[in-house]
Amino acid sequence: MIEQSTPVALTHFVEVADISAEQAIALLHRARLFEVEADAGITRTQPTRSVIQLLFFEDSTRTRTSFEAAARRLGCDVCLVTEKGSSAAKGETLDDTVITLLNTVDPDVVVMRHRENHSARHISQQPWNTAGIANAGDGTNEHPTQALLDALTLRGHFRDHTGDLAGLHVVIVGDIVRSRVARSNAHLLTNLGAQVTVVAPSTMLPEDIDLWPVAVASDLDVVIADADAVMALRIQHERIDTEAGLESLDYRERFGLTVERTARMKPGAVVMHPGPMNRGVEIDDAVADGPRSLIRVQVRNGVWARMAVVEALIAGRHAR
Ligand code: CP
Repeated sequence: MIEQSTPVALTHFVEVADISAEQAIALLHRARLFEVEADAGITRTQPTRSVIQLLFFEDSTRTRTSFEAAARRLGCDVCLVTEKGSSAAKGETLDDTVITLLNTVDPDVVVMRHRENHSARHISQQPWNTAGIANAGDGTNEHPTQALLDALTLRGHFRDHTGDLAGLHVVIVGDIVRSRVARSNAHLLTNLGAQVTVVAPSTMLPEDIDLWPVAVASDLDVVIADADAVMALRIQHERIDTEAGLESLDYRERFGLTVERTARMKPGAVVMHPGPMNRGVEIDDAVADGPRSLIRVQVRNGVWARMAVVEALIAGRHAR
């Protein structure tokens, strides 16, 4: 059963704040429709093929391939530029790279991953920009399509793709301060009615955590028994200056989703991880691959959620 599914139009999707709760629900409806269509073997075509530019200046497997799969499933042409192999590696600025692509490829949508916070917002605000901008992760700031696919996963698992997430308690554990996934999920999941608790050592909490719409805890064992879902975050070795602090934390013992710890979760409670995982650090193999894990569902839902976002940005460009 699919709820009424009305296409959404977005100018850009750079941060969770760019969409209302109603628009988020509408995007989730579209995502679910795309999944059902795919399972039924239905393919989409377009009278005029839209063009999606993938611009990845940081490494990615899930986000990059799922945006590409999403675009192709919508009948779009896709162009990929990465930092390595492009003139960015020779020192060309981000602005000049995007201006060049707008003039060569003329994309309807640019999907951007970049190490600098607010880089996607910066491009979206330039007077010369003609494309809809999808933020595929900007530094430690936001990863809004990850939050959308996580909401799709929770809504599918606990709510059979209807209604919002009211009544669900989601615990996000790990390196909150460096996690764009945590920031986007904290805002989107609470917008959709969930109660969110973040758990981290004090060195991994952002200074402005009081402004986040979440509860804060330091002991995972105190909150885990009440959680409907626990989302482990990746330890971002590439963004941590020293590994010594990590070792002194004894991270796995205190904050890892170990077999022993997850055995204390409620019946029916689930574990999630945005990937890529540091197996044996933030999550044990047997948990990642075990019966509570929705991690592979999250990956698959990335395609449907990103189809909804690409469709909405194409509609937004045509509406300008
Ligand atoms: N979750 C996520 O962003 O994974 P990738 O870095 O592989 O895209």
